[in-house]
Amino acid sequence: MITHFIEYATYLLPKAVGSTIIHIRLNHNGVIEMLIDSHAHLDMPEFEKDREQVLERALEGGVTRVITIGIDLPSSLKALELANKYDFIFSTIGYHPHNAKDADDSTLEELAKLGREPKVIAWGEIGLDFYRRHSPPEKQKRIFEEQLDMAGHFDLPVIIHDRDAHREVFEILKEKGNTSRKGVIHCFSGDYKMAMAFIEMGFHISIPGTVTYKKASVVQEVAASIPIESLLIETDAPFLTPVPERGKRNEPLFVTYTARKIAELRQMDFRELARRTSENVNRLFRLP
Ligand code: NI
Repeated sequence: MITHFIEYATYLLPKAVGSTIIHIRLNHNGVIEMLIDSHAHLDMPEFEKDREQVLERALEGGVTRVITIGIDLPSSLKALELANKYDFIFSTIGYHPHNAKDADDSTLEELAKLGREPKVIAWGEIGLDFYRRHSPPEKQKRIFEEQLDMAGHFDLPVIIHDRDAHREVFEILKEKGNTSRKGVIHCFSGDYKMAMAFIEMGFHISIPGTVTYKKASVVQEVAASIPIESLLIETDAPFLTPVPERGKRNEPLFVTYTARKIAELRQMDFRELARRTSENVNRLFRLP
């Protein structure tokens, strides 16, 4: 594990390798503290200017793995490209409900060509968004269902986007999400009861930085109460920046604030929470 991390660091930080390694060894007595950002959009233009520095900051801050998420064909290709460039980055492929309007047989076929790439570890984000309705609801549903079948075909877990469509997403997953790998409801915005219904179906729940907001009592209750085995943590960077960085662009390092808040809510040691949630990510996505 240590060797691997040093390899990653060496690869990414040729100039800062020495100090990075010393920093990590001194702080953790040889035990790597692992925190994973289970959902970021590193391909987005917000990171075009300083992606290397963003990744450097994440590694230095103990965020040892990042999953970067595809939202359409071009974004999935770019996510995979990043994952192939950096050992500690993994990618997903899929059509986000916002982009469902652009998906057709040929773009889905192109996505399917990436389904067996070693660094592609999940299908998503896919789902329904009846809040913004950037794509017509019927098309969203059809593309969501088709991609659930594709994920099943490739035996990949799914990453679910659900905004103002809890009941519909739940019903579709009950019918079509019955693959062995299940997946995660990302950026969970429902209540505890809904979270438990998804968990009973075998899904994980991922909590974003909104849990640090003052008025976020519902998501705070979810983060504090669901079984630890089902809990994932994410940034959804560049969106949903946690306090105290709220207002700025989000980045993987800031998952630390979210994890600290959840540890506090659960009255748990931060490092134990980081370890347990990272184990969940590694198990769910079968990371090496
Ligand atoms: Ni996202």
